[in-house]
Amino acid sequence: MSQDSKVLSVDHLLGIKGLLQEDLHLIFETAKEFKQVINRPIKKVPTLRDITIGNLFFENSTRTKLSFELAEKRLSADVINFSAGSSSVKKGETLIDTVNNILAMKVDIIVMRHPNPGAALFLSKKVDSCIVNAGDGTHEHPTQALLDSYSLMEQLGDLKGKKILITGDIKHSRVALSNIHCLQLLGAKVKVCGPPTLIPKNIESLGVEVEFDFKKALAWCDVVNMLRIQLERQTNPLFPSLRDYQMQYGLTMNHLNDLNKKITIMHPGPINRGVEISSEIADSDQSIILDQVENGVAVRMAVLYLLAGKLKNKYNGDEAHF
Ligand code: CP
Repeated sequence: MSQDSKVLSVDHLLGIKGLLQEDLHLIFETAKEFKQVINRPIKKVPTLRDITIGNLFFENSTRTKLSFELAEKRLSADVINFSAGSSSVKKGETLIDTVNNILAMKVDIIVMRHPNPGAALFLSKKVDSCIVNAGDGTHEHPTQALLDSYSLMEQLGDLKGKKILITGDIKHSRVALSNIHCLQLLGAKVKVCGPPTLIPKNIESLGVEVEFDFKKALAWCDVVNMLRIQLERQTNPLFPSLRDYQMQYGLTMNHLNDLNKKITIMHPGPINRGVEISSEIADSDQSIILDQVENGVAVRMAVLYLLAGKLKNKYNGDEAHF
C-alpha cells in the first residue's frame, strides 16, 4: 500500500464525529486500493497476518458482520467471532469481563455492534485494545457512513455542494447521524425527511434542513438515502400504520417519473421492500445499494489496515511496515 506514511488522527473508530476531513480522505484513498485487490483473481493480501481481530455482535447483523469478517480475512488477519446469544453474556457476564476475557486470548482489535448508544466509547476507555464501532444503538454506524460516502463519490465525484436527502426513521437511525457528520465534513448539503414523529426535535442544530413533504424533498435532492423504519426500537407506535407510512414516504417509480432529473438511490439495508422503497426502484439502475455492499468490504479493509498501523506503531514504538 502507498499510504504507509499517513496515519489516522484517532486510535479507535468510535464514530464519524471526532474524525478530520483528512482522515476521511485517507480512508477513501486506501479503500480505493483495496477495492482493486478484492477485484483481482487472488483477493487476499498478507498485510494483517500478525493481527487478531474479535468480532463481537450483541445485536443482529448480516451486512456489517459478514463485511468485517471478509475484510479481515482478505487482509489475512486471524479472526474470532462472538454472538451474544450463544455466549456467557446469557449467564450474566458483563461487557467488560467478556471483552477482557477475549483480550486475554491476545486479540488486538475488537469490532463491536451493541444495542446501547455509547457502548463503543465506554469500552475504549475500559480496555486496552483498539475498538471499532460496528453500530451502537441509535448513536453511530461509522463504517456505514464511510462506505456510503465512498460509493457516492464513485458516482458523483467530489461531494462539495451535492444535495443529499435522508428519508425515513431519522430518530432511531445511527446511519442517519453518521451520514450527516460524514457528508457535512465532505461539504455536502444534507436534508432529512420523514413524519414529524420520526425526526429528532433539535436536528437543525446539526446544520441539516428538515422537510416533511417527501415530493418537495425529492425535487431538491441529487441523492436520496432511504432508511428503514426501526420498529424494534419504537416502544410506542409513531405513525398510524405501515400502509400510511408507505403512502406518504415510500419511494415508488411514480416519484422518479415525476422528476425531471435522475437521482441516485441508496439504502443501507436491510430493505423492507414495498414499505420505504419499492422493489422496482431497489433493483433499478438508479439504485447503488449493492455497490454500497461491495464497497463496504474495501472501506472496512482500509479502516482495519489504518488502525492496525497505529497499533503496530504502539507495539513497536516505531513506524509500522506491513
Ligand atoms: N447496514 C447494516 O448495518 O446492515 P446490518 O444490520 O445487516 O449489518
